Amino acid sequence: MLLKTVPILVLVTHVLALKNGLMQTPPMGWLAWERFRCNIDCKEDPKNCISEQLFMEMADRLAEDGWRDLGYTYLNIDDCWIGERDERGNLVADPRRFPNGIAHLADYAHSLGLKLGIYADLGNFTCMGFPGTTLDRVVQDAKTFAKWKVDMLKLDGCYSTPLERAVGYPKMAAALNATGHPIAFSCSWPAYEGGLPPTVNYTLLADICNLWRNYDDIQDSWSSVLSILDWFVEYQDILQPVAGPGHWNDPDMLLVGNFGLSFEEAQSQMALWTVLAAPLFMSTDLRTISAKDMGILQNPLMIKIHQDPLGIQGRRIVKEKSQIEVFLRPLSQKASALVFFSRRTDMPYHYSTSLKWLNFTSASVYEAQNVYTGEIISDLHIKTKFTVTINPSGVVMWYLYPIHYETEAMDRT
Ligand SMILES: *[C@@H]1O[C@H](CO)[C@@H](O)[C@H](O)[C@H]1NC(C)=O
Ligand SMILES: *[C@@H]1O[C@H](CO)[C@@H](O)[C@H](O)[C@H]1NC(C)=O
Ligand SMILES: *[C@@H]1O[C@H](CO)[C@@H](O)[C@H](O)[C@H]1NC(C)=O
Repeated sequence: MLLKTVPILVLVTHVLALKNGLMQTPPMGWLAWERFRCNIDCKEDPKNCISEQLFMEMADRLAEDGWRDLGYTYLNIDDCWIGERDERGNLVADPRRFPNGIAHLADYAHSLGLKLGIYADLGNFTCMGFPGTTLDRVVQDAKTFAKWKVDMLKLDGCYSTPLERAVGYPKMAAALNATGHPIAFSCSWPAYEGGLPPTVNYTLLADICNLWRNYDDIQDSWSSVLSILDWFVEYQDILQPVAGPGHWNDPDMLLVGNFGLSFEEAQSQMALWTVLAAPLFMSTDLRTISAKDMGILQNPLMIKIHQDPLGIQGRRIVKEKSQIEVFLRPLSQKASALVFFSRRTDMPYHYSTSLKWLNFTSASVYEAQNVYTGEIISDLHIKTKFTVTINPSGVVMWYLYPIHYETEAMDRT
């Protein structure tokens, strides 16, 4: 009897976690904050201020430059869009910077096959001091966002207390559900509580949020990327199991295309975020991005790995004395993504290893495709020694899959 009961309990938990059915694979899109911050000076800087025009121009780029078709469908507003509350207490966008309002922007995004995300803050003010969504406003604001046909809400936590957050995040999840309009829910809650149990209850988060910010905001530098990566790796035993279809850990936006990362570092962030099954929210100027950076972000095999239907977050599996680390994400059809990452700062390093050393045990023969160069590495038995050359602060990334001899033999006849 006991054996029969357990799977049912597992099933119930699973159904609860699915709630709105959204984001069965980690979301992809564009989010304004890291690159454009709270620039509201449209007089001095009309091309880059937080305005309807900025979002419409990014929407055009997402639709016309191949992004949308690869899966980058979310166009997300962050802080600094709010003007005030009207006489009924409803949120209103700043009328000078968003003269047609958010509903118009949502319609525009939808007309291009995109989704619109918006931002609010569960507290007296948003982080930048605009009107907040206090507990008594949660239901009202959820209704406003649904009326505007917004597709996603990021709910920040500045100017709130731990108790208000403990009440407010589940309250918003219920309020969004009650609107009847599917709205993905991004919760900044754990980042305000230190990101770890027992203060943070990841079971509860997975029930009410589609993604959550666990840790510090990313800044435009490699040291920021490393500090976030270090934290996610240190606590991977806690964080890795709580991610899955419909509920994801969020180490914050991609910096690719901005000022702080070298080419190698940009490739590393993309590869590591992909292996961690992290949301891929770009935050860069898509009007001026270079072909090289587009190549990193638009790599089809990278995106196929990122969107793998199993939705399993990867882990660091090896940490060598040579400052080489290996990350692995299990994928469907017995495939894996492997990231060989160098923390060295001297010169390209020749790392020799074998699948056996990386804990592979199957008797299959494997083949790999280098995700960034396209090179095929064949005839890998688990004991085969191979060498990858990894640049300083760089990665080599493999898509590794077993080869079935029977199929091959048939193909040859
Ligand atoms: C929010 O505003 C109320 C009313 O002014 C105040 O009592 C409370 O301390 C504020 N909360 C925070 C977290 O700043
Ligand atoms: C609300 O929640 C129920 C049950 O969890 C779910 O079936 C439904 O799809 C949700 N609706 C929306 C709009 O999220
Ligand atoms: C965490 O939340 C879940 C779901 O709401 C609940 O069943 C569980 O008791 C909570 N765990 C702790 C340690 O509070």
